[in-house]
Amino acid sequence: MNKRVAICPGSFDCITLGHLDIISRAAAMFDEIIVVAMNNQQKKYTFSEEERVDMIKKSTADIKNVSVDLYDGLLAEYAAKKGACAIIKGLRAMSDFEYEFQMALTNKKLNPRVETVFLTTSAQNMYLSSSMVKQIASMGGDISDFVPPVILSDILKKLSPKHN
Ligand code: PNS
Repeated sequence: MNKRVAICPGSFDCITLGHLDIISRAAAMFDEIIVVAMNNQQKKYTFSEEERVDMIKKSTADIKNVSVDLYDGLLAEYAAKKGACAIIKGLRAMSDFEYEFQMALTNKKLNPRVETVFLTTSAQNMYLSSSMVKQIASMGGDISDFVPPVILSDILKKLSPKHN
């Protein structure tokens, strides 16, 4: 039987425990997960593409069926290239919904073979976002409850005024 491949796309600027929770749960549902760092034209990134990919690789190293990639193009096109049957997105609050719904319908139009699957965020990650993590780190705050321990120093090195 063909392997069921799913894509977890995102900016991952930087990956958080919220992302990691969605990736691990998706990994339990599909044969193979490709986590892909992409570009959202509405965002200015803090971390370079290489840094974002490196942090995802370190954070997911323990999950056997997860691989990591970088793609600067359309998600629907990437999913077709990889023969994926699903795009996995995490939904935090209703505020995520309208934008995600619009993207899911657009991706379906561009690639009718791929379904978008929404996973509800775990309760402890409801409020968590990469931008909040970056804001706290850049003001010298403690982000250890929000990001995978293996990338903590990468983030602090880049953003924390206390790090030398
Ligand atoms: O983590 P983000 O910023 O919410 O992720 C958004 C992302 C990168 C998944 C989205 O912007 C995207 O899919 N970008 C790739 C370009 C694309 O396919 N755009 C059309 C989407 S409808």
